[in-house]
Amino acid sequence: MADKRAIGVFDSGLGGLTVIKELRRILPNEDIIYFGDTGRVPYGTKSRDTIIKYASQDEKFLLSKNVKLIIAACGTVSSVASQEAEKLPVPFFEVVSHAANEAAKLTLNKKIGVLGTNATVKSGKHAEFIKKILPEAEIISCGCSMFVPLVEEGWHSADDIVVLETVKRYLKPVIASGADTVILGCTHYPVLKDAIKSVVGAGVNLVNAGTSTSEAVYKYLSENSLLNDKKSKGDAQFFVSDKPDSFRKIASILLGEEIDEKKVEQVDISNYD
Ligand code: DGL
Repeated sequence: MADKRAIGVFDSGLGGLTVIKELRRILPNEDIIYFGDTGRVPYGTKSRDTIIKYASQDEKFLLSKNVKLIIAACGTVSSVASQEAEKLPVPFFEVVSHAANEAAKLTLNKKIGVLGTNATVKSGKHAEFIKKILPEAEIISCGCSMFVPLVEEGWHSADDIVVLETVKRYLKPVIASGADTVILGCTHYPVLKDAIKSVVGAGVNLVNAGTSTSEAVYKYLSENSLLNDKKSKGDAQFFVSDKPDSFRKIASILLGEEIDEKKVEQVDISNYD
């Protein structure tokens, strides 16, 4: 048995592409349908009710594309709206529990930094999952609200003084704690990993949720005989709620592959209520 339907992935904007990058590496034959809510990004500064409403519309859009499972490639949605997604008619994967489990396994000094949007940090979800495995862990959480606009603007180089100073300022408590493991708790943040690494030091583990989540998806699909059995490389199609042009430019950089103009379409997400 095989399932040729695409995997549905969504995020508030470009950040979910860091998950797609890992998905394409770990599941190269799967087709992917991505929705980036570029017209309403960021989610991390919005209220819980708004995030739940947006996530539900994003999921309805992906369901309309007949996907076989949905990944919330967004730390904020994963932290705030995962419970609601349990009612979906297809399996749902979030990015928080996998990253938290990986960090709990990696840390040696039991000090873990969690970087995320304000909504993610406020939810305390990473800490909740980490404590299930390592009850004695010390968790240092930092809401880094300027990181998403930096990434969406295409500013991510470790040589950029604005990027470096912003990272330094947000990470002060993490550095002071001596944490040996840091979770990039927002899917935009792997784009800033070189800058973050240069601030925390090469010896600190950085956890990218895209990797462990993609591995969990692979495990689920293979155990349930739902992998796409096509022999060629999977296709990726992108949908956005704002103009496709600026998305395509930065997305190509983040994904490390050129995105064809015909592969990006604008949708009116308010129709999916
Ligand atoms: N990629 C989203 C996340 O992982 C970005 C958050 C936002 O839109 O504020 O949280």
